[in-house]
This record gives sequence, structure tokens and C-alpha cells, in this order.
Amino acid sequence: KYLREDDISQKCRDLLPSLPHEKGWISPSLYQYQGLWVAPKLLNGILACQEHFRAQETDVLLITAPKSGTTWLKAILFCLPNRAKYSGSMQQHPLLTQSPHDLVPFLELKLYFGQEIPNLTSLPPPRLFATHLPYQSLPQSVKDSGCKLVYLCRNPKDTFVSLWHFANKLRSKTTSGIPLAECLDAFCRGVSPFGPYWDHVQGYYKASLEMPERVQFLRYEDMIEDPQVHVKRLADFLGCPFGEQELRDGTVDGIVRMCSFDSMSMLEVNKSGKLSTGQETESYFRKGEVGDWVNYMSVEMGERVDRVVQEKMDGSGLKL
Ligand code: A3P
Repeated sequence: KYLREDDISQKCRDLLPSLPHEKGWISPSLYQYQGLWVAPKLLNGILACQEHFRAQETDVLLITAPKSGTTWLKAILFCLPNRAKYSGSMQQHPLLTQSPHDLVPFLELKLYFGQEIPNLTSLPPPRLFATHLPYQSLPQSVKDSGCKLVYLCRNPKDTFVSLWHFANKLRSKTTSGIPLAECLDAFCRGVSPFGPYWDHVQGYYKASLEMPERVQFLRYEDMIEDPQVHVKRLADFLGCPFGEQELRDGTVDGIVRMCSFDSMSMLEVNKSGKLSTGQETESYFRKGEVGDWVNYMSVEMGERVDRVVQEKMDGSGLKL
């Protein structure tokens, strides 16, 4: 899908030959642009959204490295500002029939993925978008606008294992699987979709320290441990805090339950649906567990990832 040459803009085609490239995980190759590794078709979307996306102050942008729990946080983010609208009619809630990926669209992977530039100006505030772009590659208007950024990171070993499964799932449609050891080598060299992983996480961690009122930095593992606390914090951060009544009547628990892995992965739309971009929705729900890497990697492999990530992040104050 990412490789249909005719979908690649002239601008992108002119740029590609000058970029370093490596073997890809899902598409045959990954190209390095502004320090990040992406498939050629995605570069198209990145260039288009960098040029055309105009952020508004009231926008909320969810940012993740792939497989950090984006689907989950998209669902939660959708629920928070929209909760009053559906409080009396939960059976009408859009999350019951639509994928979080269609409710909170990616900029580069969906809205700016094709040749047409979307008109997003008429969407009502707060507009919710998502992106996998690292901080240094965000469209300039995102940095200038004062909009809110929510960043979710996940343990690198679990992120890696989830990504390896996902890559194999998408590859199996067209070609053979890719061995874990090969992916691990690439991951540890920084060559993974939207990688290097450590630059991605570090960029937003730094931004969250410098601009805490604009950037909220969350961890998948903390959310799993105490989702209620983090959902409440997120609502405060977004400027839609839970009121006394909501705190008493179980609204927070309701959102946590509705967005949980168990609830979401049981829904027909997430079991057998297709996204408007073509991917099968079930590929976004595998296990949703912390520490699953031990079932796929040796202790030595795990130590290698930890060592590389800690070396690269040395001095950042961030422990993953
Ligand atoms: P695993 O492959 O470890 O199970 P992304 O949404 O960024 O693509 O990340 C996908 C990962 O998040 C997968 O991890 C998936 O199972 C997990 N996930 C999806 N929905 C979730 C939810 N509601 N709660 C917790 N984890 C979820």
C-alpha cells in the first residue's frame, strides 16, 4: 500500500534519491528524513502535513511512537471532551461502532496521506488529531499555535515486540515474515518506523519539562497501573476537568471501562472492521499487556535494548 509509485508526489520523488535508506520492516525500504525513518509513501504525507496543516490553539494532538498504545489513548481522548454529549445515550457512543483511528485521525497517515489536501477548518473545536512525528518534524504551526500535545510512551522492549508482531501481520499479506533478530538489530541502530525510538521519546520528554502546560508526557505502564488517576489528569490538562457530580457518579470509571483493552477488543468494529485507510482494525489489538517482551526475547536481547536506549538517553533524566 505504501509503495504505489503513482501516489508519490513529485516533491517526494525528487527528495528520495538524496536520502539514506535501509531495508524496511513493512515496506521494502525506510528512508531517513529529518533524522526519522519512514516508508516512501509516508514521506509524502509528512511533507504535505508539514506544508499545509494549520494548527489552532484549541487543537489537541496525540503523539506516539508506533505501538505505544495510540489506539487506547485515541479512545480516551475522544471520550473526554465529548462526554456530556453521550452521557445519557451511551448506546449511541461513536466508540461502539467506529475505530478510534477514524475518530481521531492521524495527520500524516490519514488526513495528508493521499494527494488531496484536506480542508479541516470547519471541524468544531477541540479538533483531535494524532501523529507519529517526532518533535523536530512537527509542522511549524503546531509549535507556534499553543495547541496541547499529549505524548504517550511505552517500555522500549514491549514497544519493539508489539511493532515486530504488527510488521509481520501487515507483511504476511504480501511477503514472508521478518525474523525478530533482524528487526532487533535494526531497532538498536535506530532504524524502525518513525525511529530512532529514543530520539522520539526524548524530544517530547524535553518539551514536557520545558512547557508542562502544553505537553503532557504519559507512560503506557502508568496508565495500565492506575488508569483512573491518569484519565483525571488528562481531563485537567485538556481543560475539561471532571466535576464533583461526575466524580461521584462513576463517569471516570465508565470511560476507563469503555476504553479498556477487554471492552474495545470485543467490539465488532475492532474485531472485523477495516479502517478508512484499509488496515484491518483487529491488528491494533493483540494483548495489551506490560512485560510481554519476555515471551519473545531472551534476557540478553532485553539487556541489549535497555543498554542501547539508556546510552542514547544518557543525561536526559528519563528512565524507561
Ligand atoms: P501489544 O501488541 O503489546 O498487545 P498502537 O495503538 O500504538 O498501535 O499500539 C498497539 C498496542 O496497544 C498493542 O500492544 C495493543 O494490543 C495495545 N492496545 C490496544 N488497545 C489497548 C487498550 N485499550 N488498552 C491497552 N492496550 C491496548
